Amino acid sequence: MALFKGKNPTAETPALDDNFQHIAFIMDGNGRWAKKRGMPREFGHKAGAKVFKRICEHCADRGFRAVTVYAFSTENWKRPEHEVNALMELLCDYLDEFIENHEDYKSRFVFIGDLSPLSPTLREKIAEAERINADSPRIINIAINYGGRAEMVHAFNTLAAEGKTTVTEEDIARVVYTHESGDPDMIVRTGGDLRISNFLLWQAAYAEFYFTDTLWPDLTPEDVDEAIRVFYSRKRRYGGL
Ligand code: IPE
Ligand code: IPE
Ligand code: MG
Repeated sequence: MALFKGKNPTAETPALDDNFQHIAFIMDGNGRWAKKRGMPREFGHKAGAKVFKRICEHCADRGFRAVTVYAFSTENWKRPEHEVNALMELLCDYLDEFIENHEDYKSRFVFIGDLSPLSPTLREKIAEAERINADSPRIINIAINYGGRAEMVHAFNTLAAEGKTTVTEEDIARVVYTHESGDPDMIVRTGGDLRISNFLLWQAAYAEFYFTDTLWPDLTPEDVDEAIRVFYSRKRRYGGL
């Protein structure tokens, strides 16, 4: 009998059921991917954007109802200005790509995070993209200028503005950015680091974590299938027995 350590591409991937409807990705490792090739970090971000599309299409084909991706954190503004600009330009180009080829994604785009510091052009394009595929049952949440802590502050301020002086878990779940798609069942982080980096702090309470050394631009649909197999090999107890 063959013994597999790690990836087993010949294994069958279970069909998704109600237990696995939402997958999230911390798309990390673009810069290192480019560096390995002697190229500027921006080159890695470009490659990463292409992979994003392929992964989204695969997730729709597998039947995920929600995919959430971490594209730009509240902390990523600390990067050199040219990299931040390149990322914003890439987002702009990407929105054009989505607007033109939206049928490929079979999903509605929802942008999560504080979009107010983005340029008016970018914000208009985001609004346009969000209006497309409005009837789709699938959601792709794209986290831009997103931080889990900033999201909590935003949520509490929203509830305060409603006049709430005490809040419940249900109240918070209703006002977090991901309120339409609920909590992720699994969070995948590429790039080898074992941390959450301020992503989905509230929503991650009972998420399964899947860490891989694979750099984001190298991630393949087969890697997603491996994550699905791992998900179904785990036992979620939610504190019970
Ligand atoms: C993730 O890749 C993309 C963003 C944070 C925008 P990185 O740019 O963090 O790539 P590494 O981690 O430096 O390789
Ligand atoms: C997390 O990656 C943010 C995104 C993928 C957008 P980072 O590269 O910013 O995270 P750290 O700095 O390694 O924690
Ligand atoms: Mg990184």
